[in-house]
Amino acid sequence: MQIFLEQLHQVLDQKYILTEDQDKNPYLTDWRKRYTGKALAVVLPRTAQEVAQIIRLCAINQVAVVPQGGHTGFCGGATPDSSGKQIVLNLKRMNTIREIDVANQTITVEAGCILQAIQEKAAAQDFLFPLSLGAEGSCMIGGNLATNAGGTNVLRYGNTRDLCLGLEVVTAKGEIWNGLKGLRKDNTGYDLRDLFIGSEGTLGIITAAVMKLYPLPISQWTTLVAADSVVSTITLLNLFQKRATSLLTGFEMMTQESLDLNEKHFPQMANPLKGNPPYTVLIELSDHESEAHVRQLLETILEEAFEASLITDAVIANNLAQANTFWHMREHITLAQAEEGANLKHDITIPLSALESFIEETDALVRAKFPGVRIINFGHLGDGNLHYNIAPPIGVDHKAFNLTNEKPIHELVYAQVERCQGSISAEHGVGQLKLEGLRAHKGEVAHELMKTLKRALDPQNILNPHKVVSI
Ligand code: FAD
Ligand code: MLT
Ligand code: ZN
Repeated sequence: MQIFLEQLHQVLDQKYILTEDQDKNPYLTDWRKRYTGKALAVVLPRTAQEVAQIIRLCAINQVAVVPQGGHTGFCGGATPDSSGKQIVLNLKRMNTIREIDVANQTITVEAGCILQAIQEKAAAQDFLFPLSLGAEGSCMIGGNLATNAGGTNVLRYGNTRDLCLGLEVVTAKGEIWNGLKGLRKDNTGYDLRDLFIGSEGTLGIITAAVMKLYPLPISQWTTLVAADSVVSTITLLNLFQKRATSLLTGFEMMTQESLDLNEKHFPQMANPLKGNPPYTVLIELSDHESEAHVRQLLETILEEAFEASLITDAVIANNLAQANTFWHMREHITLAQAEEGANLKHDITIPLSALESFIEETDALVRAKFPGVRIINFGHLGDGNLHYNIAPPIGVDHKAFNLTNEKPIHELVYAQVERCQGSISAEHGVGQLKLEGLRAHKGEVAHELMKTLKRALDPQNILNPHKVVSI
């Protein structure tokens, strides 16, 4: 290993190869503090050429590499194992926005660009870069691509995959694939770009990307509405889809229990709807027409929803500041959960037609088998994506509870997901957290195909081994 470290010094300046514990530690624990690993070194390359040279050295010396962006992922994908033999390759120094192509409506960015920096750069030129999630101040576009992140705008603009036109990737052999074309049509055989997106650093290291831009909306109205049942929220979604069509850019659901938890830890984030109803839905309409036009449309749809008894209360944000407080309330649920203690997350998608039965049955089973637990349920309802999270009963130690109950709770929830033909990972990925569950979920044929791809692209198994699939 000494030889390997010496070889690394021929590629990177000493200050970009971290080997002392105090320097490495900030890179070794994930955002949720669920996983802590060890690393031989943390390396901080600045160019794709440096990444390629590092990977070639890893291949020669049989050293495994864990690619890392903002380390905000929820599945332990960017955390090394406990062997101390892997290196972490953090891309934060690759943070140049290379180009905005106005005519093509694209932005070319390096993998270490912080998501928010890309949004701001686009906005400064009157463009919208629609990818948006609670971690946008610290997650990086390479990590977003590697996890195919979702977030709050998927309903209108799709997930990260839908926003990407081209990639630059360093392969397991240490070659650079330049696929940085900003084309909206390109049927030239296998889609390599889509293979790397969502592969969580197991097939290649993303070093840059061409992403789509959209015209910046000029009017936006945000509302919070109260509903009594899941079925009302889904009928409401369908009403908005029919009446507002592409103007509907956000549809987020929060349960009473999730907002109670929010208020406990962030009293300033209390639900403005009276009595914190069973279901609160945050709805956003955006357009390029005048503000009055969108407001009128929103009010008309809300009136229809009241008349059909789909909603029992509504409050429309009067200005951008109030709209932001609504969004902050939604995004703070994750932070409130973190404050409360280690919790069990399930990031699932269910066909909307099966969502009501899923929630009713799963809630009943969970409450019967694990009395007193709190179901912290919220999510991107417009995408059928539920964050179905379980916290222990009040007063019970979180770590001790999870130790005994994590496995049976996951099994129960995932069996329900299978029953409803859903997915056990809607947007957070697989990482190490769902490695075991994936085989059963995908089925033998799909799982074998994934392993075949992994073996073909990374025969030495040096790219993020034992994440997503084990070979
Ligand atoms: P990391 O955590 O550093 O890495 C994630 C995975 O990608 C790892 O497997 C890593 O090895 C790999 N990777 C990283 N960079 C590269 C690269 N350049 N090349 C190849 N592989 C790479 N996720 C959602 O989908 N939707 C949400 O709404 C959402 N909200 C969140 C809110 C909060 C408060 C937090 C903390 C997280 C949230 N997340 C959400 C999860 C997380 O932010 C996303 O998964 C994000 O895309 C991860 O980006 P990152 O840069 O932090 O990646
Ligand atoms: C969200 O939708 O807020 C994120 O996916 C975070 C979470 O699931 O906690
Ligand atoms: Zn989410």
